[in-house]
Amino acid sequence: MRNLLVGYMGKGSIVAGCLAPHPPHLVYAENPPQNEPVSEGGWEQLRWGYESLRASLEKVDYDVLVILSPHWQTYVGTHFIGLEHCASKSVDPVFPNLFRFDYDMNVDVELSRAIHDEAQSAGMAVKMMENPDFRVDYGTIVSLHMTRPAWDKPVVVISSNRGMSYYSSEVMQEMMAELGRATAKAIEASGKKCVLIASNSLSHRHFTTENDVPEDMSKEHIESHAMHLWDMRIIELMRAGKSQQILDEMPEFCEQAISEADGGAFSWILNAMGVPDHPAILHGYGTIIGTGNAIMEWPCHRWGEQ
Ligand SMILES: [Fe+2]
Repeated sequence: MRNLLVGYMGKGSIVAGCLAPHPPHLVYAENPPQNEPVSEGGWEQLRWGYESLRASLEKVDYDVLVILSPHWQTYVGTHFIGLEHCASKSVDPVFPNLFRFDYDMNVDVELSRAIHDEAQSAGMAVKMMENPDFRVDYGTIVSLHMTRPAWDKPVVVISSNRGMSYYSSEVMQEMMAELGRATAKAIEASGKKCVLIASNSLSHRHFTTENDVPEDMSKEHIESHAMHLWDMRIIELMRAGKSQQILDEMPEFCEQAISEADGGAFSWILNAMGVPDHPAILHGYGTIIGTGNAIMEWPCHRWGEQ
């Protein structure tokens, strides 16, 4: 009998969304073989948070990790890595003493192009990045490594078009809503199961000097009380499933907490998941050079069962 399903596409899905911050200190503290500098540990609460996220994702069947990083900054439109394989050394420009990392990743170019095409159809300025000498940004690498250190899943890497820096928070939000919808539509048509990653800290005011021992945890704390209040507010909103309220408060959050959500990743992921009213799971919270970082998971794969 002829199989009528051959060639049929569709019913792909976003199985989980993650807020996965990328300070290079986390990789430095983990001492993986890919990173040159050696540490005595540090930032354990956050690293245990990532451990908890990884254990949770172990129970989820998925094909691809789709990430948006605020450190791949493209001021003319949203770009997507269009190379099958990326390998090089990534050095953090601010913390070369902590992060000199040999990365090696495989890209799902088919899905990248599908999201690119959907976004283009929606009227967005987009581009496939096909420069073979391109160096992947450290934000993408840190979040991917901490989420899945085996590097055994293909990835889709999306740039930050810096809509807020170039225009305004309102324009950034509109564009990320469009990109989120395009991402969800392309994933559904692809037939693939995807985990989405927004790679950003919450409050982002940081110290301006570094200690002699970077991992000296006696020196680590939130930069100010106001930053703590913003972080706790946003975490509680995520835990309560109040995604729309987060989007409504995003302009004030970005401005007052100097949040790294200004890169658009947070707005993109909430929109890609359909602005969920389901609660997110808090896997960990901690500060890194004074910035606030939460590791969160939206377990979308469970929502159909509820
Ligand atoms: Fe960053």
